[in-house]
Amino acid sequence: MKNVSIVVSTRPEIIKMAPVIRALQKSKIQLIFVHCGQHYDYNMSQQFIEELELPSPDYQYKVKAHSQGAQTARIMTHMERLLKKTSPALVLVEGDTNGVLATALAAVKLGTPVGHVEAGLRSFDLRMPEEHNRRLTDHVSTYLFAPTETAEKNLKRENVWGKIYVTGNTVIDAVIQHLSIAEKKSKILENIHFESFALATAHRAENVDNLTVLKNFMETFAEAPIPVIYPMHPRTKKRLQQNRIYTKIKKSENIQILPPVGYLDFLVLMKKCEMIVTDSGGIQEEATASCIRKPVLVIRLSTERPEAVKSGFAEIVGTEKHRILDAMKRTLKQRKKLPRKSPYGDGNAAEKIAKIIKEELAG
Ligand code: UD1
Ligand code: UDP
Repeated sequence: MKNVSIVVSTRPEIIKMAPVIRALQKSKIQLIFVHCGQHYDYNMSQQFIEELELPSPDYQYKVKAHSQGAQTARIMTHMERLLKKTSPALVLVEGDTNGVLATALAAVKLGTPVGHVEAGLRSFDLRMPEEHNRRLTDHVSTYLFAPTETAEKNLKRENVWGKIYVTGNTVIDAVIQHLSIAEKKSKILENIHFESFALATAHRAENVDNLTVLKNFMETFAEAPIPVIYPMHPRTKKRLQQNRIYTKIKKSENIQILPPVGYLDFLVLMKKCEMIVTDSGGIQEEATASCIRKPVLVIRLSTERPEAVKSGFAEIVGTEKHRILDAMKRTLKQRKKLPRKSPYGDGNAAEKIAKIIKEELAG
């Protein structure tokens, strides 16, 4: 069987590729596992490889902080060198980070087919680097693994030239594969100061790199009608420190700031919280898993995950304080019933992807 190279660059890619790695291993497909190092801190990268019991990467880089363009270019340069050396039959990438676009471009320029897991998402917001990355990656991919029919429609409307398969999202596989392990192993609740809490995350560049929005978020969490547990992304911590607001926020009695937590701890926090307030993409999906089922307030102006909104799990509440606070109060009061079924699949997306890859590579 030919080699498949799985390339990850950030935290969510490791989590979402974990089920794909397992499914490909089960199918006896030979893997080259590459971490191209866009995320490099232990608690943003290696921690997940260890916790999810993934093989050690065969190749690992560190790119460190750079401008969007320089980061993309650096990853592209080392991925081109690596792809020339390893000659995989297929390169698999997941999502919409700079690492994904850089890898896909390096591959297509060498004539190596690209498979894009989580293809076809669109926020229609060109302020977002993720929107550039996902659109461009979709257009150079040979195989597009769309999580939903909405994503498939987006791809068809844009006439992508690769083959589209609707598979579900591998994040649901990941939740199902890890929640019971998390509930056994995680001790995070011993460190949580509140019995009942909202879980918050925020890291989008268009939010936290904008001082007005960043301040809005911090004031919102400090004044929220329920205490807020906030595992803080390094980008956000850096911005708060640069603007000298981090120490003040740390002192707020309504917010418990944590460093980025491991996946098992995060699953337990999602399971236990009253609601999630986030600008994350993956968390909007995870909240819909039948074993999590939590309301999500999306603190953004748009989402590329409309299925979470249509199914009643998520609500786009924008970035203004009064709107987020109103939505938090309403969510606490309403306690609305959420659907049993996730719009992102039943947890067998990775198996489907592995089967398709096996057939395509054999053909
Ligand atoms: C990236 C992705 C985003 C994804 C997120 C997952 C792009 C354009 N953005 O955003 O889509 O949702 O990852 O978390 O690809 N930093 C550290 N340590 C790390 C990693 C980052 O300190 O291990 C800090 C650095 O100051 C860095 C900043 O965070 O400059 C931003 O990191 P970067 O990878 O560029 O973007 P993210 O905001 O993490
Ligand atoms: N996550 C985690 N620890 C944290 C915050 C998030 O393990 O402290 C997980 C979360 O469960 C989800 C993924 O990281 O699977 C989401 O990553 P992030 O929000 O950074 O990126 P996005 O999904 O927005 O690209």
